[in-house]
Order: sequence, then C-alpha cells, then structure tokens
Amino acid sequence: MSLLQIQNLKKHFSYKGKILRAVDGVSFTIEEGETLGLVGESGCGKTALARALMRLYEPTSGDILFQGESILKYKGKAIKALRHDMQYIFQDPFASLNPRMTAGEIIAEPFNIHNVLNPRDREKRVQELLQLVGLRPEYISRFPHEFSGGQRQRIGIARSLALNPRLVVCDEPIAALDVSIQAQIVNLLKYLQEEMGLTYLFISHDLAMVKYLSTHVAVMYLGHLMELASSKDLYDRPLHPYTQGLLSAIPIPDPLIEKKRSRILLTGDVPSPVNPPKGCVFSTRCPLAQKRCHEERPLLREVAPSHSVACHLVE
Ligand SMILES: Nc1ncnc2c1ncn2[C@@H]1O[C@H](COP(=O)(O)OP(=O)(O)OP(=O)(O)O)[C@@H](O)[C@H]1O
Ligand code: SF4
Ligand SMILES: [Mg+2]
Repeated sequence: MSLLQIQNLKKHFSYKGKILRAVDGVSFTIEEGETLGLVGESGCGKTALARALMRLYEPTSGDILFQGESILKYKGKAIKALRHDMQYIFQDPFASLNPRMTAGEIIAEPFNIHNVLNPRDREKRVQELLQLVGLRPEYISRFPHEFSGGQRQRIGIARSLALNPRLVVCDEPIAALDVSIQAQIVNLLKYLQEEMGLTYLFISHDLAMVKYLSTHVAVMYLGHLMELASSKDLYDRPLHPYTQGLLSAIPIPDPLIEKKRSRILLTGDVPSPVNPPKGCVFSTRCPLAQKRCHEERPLLREVAPSHSVACHLVE
C-alpha cells in the first residue's frame, strides 16, 4: 500500500472575485521510504499543493489517501493526530522559530501540544533530537538569535521530527540558507531518512539538489503536473518540453550527453493561474506548440513504465 496517494487534488483561492487555480488536478503516489522531488517555477502551486495535502489548507476537491485511508473527512482531533505522521519543514528558519523560546522549548513544543511524554522524558528526548540533527545537547537553553542560519534550520528539523513522523514535507528547506550550508542540510535530511525510515516530499527550485535527494521527481507548471518519473529517467530522458527547458538551464559535466541533449529555452512569463491558457497550460511558452495544443488539454499519461507525461507530442 502506498504511504501517500493524491488523487485529482485541487486547491483554488478566490482572488478579486475570480478563481485562482493554484493546484488544478494533481495526482501522484509516494511509496514508503521514497523521496518525491517537486519542482517548478515560482508560483506554480508547490506550496499550495503541499499545504493542501497536509490539510493545512482545505482542499477544493480531489482526495488524499494516507496509508490507504482518505484524510479528507478528518476533522479537529483526527487532523491533530495526523501531525504525528505528517510534518512540515519550512523554508525560512528565521520566521518559523519563536525568538522568545529556547531551542529546547521549541523542539519540545509538539510534546506539549500533543500531550505526550512526561517532563523528564521530554528533556531526554529533546537532547536526543539535538544530537540527531548534529547540535550539541547543551544548546538546549540557547535562543534562536544565538544560532547561525544552518543551525536554526537544524532546530526546525528537530522539531519536525519530535513526534516521529513518517512523511515529512520539506518546502524549500535550503533556499534561505548560504550555499555553503545548503549541502550540509541536504546531507542531514538524507541521513535522517536512512536513520528514521522517513518518506519525503522535497520541494525545491534547485534541480541539482532534487536529483541528489529524490527517488522520483514531479514537474509542476501552473497548477498541473507536466511530468512524473523516476529521478534517473527524468534527468536522463526528460520527455516534456517544459522539463527539457528547466534542465537546459543546468550544465551537464559530461560533454557527450551535453552535445546530445536538446536545448529548450524558456522565454516569456508564466501566465496567471486566474486566467490559465486554454488547452495545454504550457502552450503559450512552448516552442513546439501546435493548433491542437491551444484547444485540448493533454492528460498526464504513462508513456513508459513509471514515466508519465502531459504532452500531445509525446507518444
Ligand atoms: N493564501 C493564498 N491566497 C490566495 N492566493 C494564493 C494563496 N497562496 C498561494 N496563492 C497563489 O497560488 C499560486 C501558487 O502559489 P504557491 O505559493 O503555491 O507557489 P509556489 O510554487 O510554492 O511558489 P514559490 O516557488 O515561489 O514558493 C500563486 O499564484 C499564489 O499567488
Ligand atoms: S501539449 Fe503542445 S504546448 Fe503542451 S507541452 Fe506538448 S507540445 Fe507543448
Ligand atoms: Mg512555495
């Protein structure tokens, strides 16, 4: 049974009396222990999707199955209990930590909210968590401003892991950090995954990081998935013109592959999700667009084993 199954999920917002289609019919599954990388340009709906699947936003329609059970009908207490299994690591380690709380209090907060462990066990567990994320146990009484950006993100990660979740949604967890620190945090996430058997949804702009961390990758554009494949297939053989465009922007060290691959330059702006193009949502920027593309929306369909693409031209 898949750990997480998203079926035709939509998250619409109302915007100046109109509908903003942030997430407009997304389906995928994540198996236990896998990492699904979610990539796409700013505003394509990654955060809205992540928040909707965690029930931090109320989904507009569709279904979310966690361990085979729909969590859409969950209310109050059941949603709270879901936080034991599903946690969120935020992009901004500065904004997400309360400056008036010590590292120990921040990490122990989930224990208070969920009323688990007695005070003595809590302190012991906090010390363990600090060590797990590579921080010294004596840091327990320090305040957020006494830590570096990377250390603050480690505290955020420790708090996310406090309740032993199974699925962790990492929303741009390294974007706000210095480049020199980014690899350390990604390595930490990889280590924690092995240590705790975690499953990740890893959202990032950084396609190289996504490649390093992900077993599978989903490419999102204007509220829709354009391509979904194993990491190897997606990077070795991207089939969707949009994916090819995204990948064209990163250099490949192997000159043979570099020479062989097709270059697609992404030009123009992403259209508004209030008024998405008819037909293929990528059609206004696609160098290969044909008449059919402007009329008929391509469905995401499997074109090779475990490799799905939403494009009329891909057979
Ligand atoms: N709470 C909200 N109310 C109204 N519109 C929203 C809200 N949250 C997001 N949106 C809109 O939904 C669309 C998708 O936003 P989202 O934050 O999910 O993008 P993203 O892919 O996470 O972008 P980024 O890479 O910049 O984080 C955007 O057009 C955004 O303006
Ligand atoms: S369906 Fe048409 S417009 Fe859309 S990606 Fe394929 S070729 Fe381009
Ligand atoms: Mg976002």
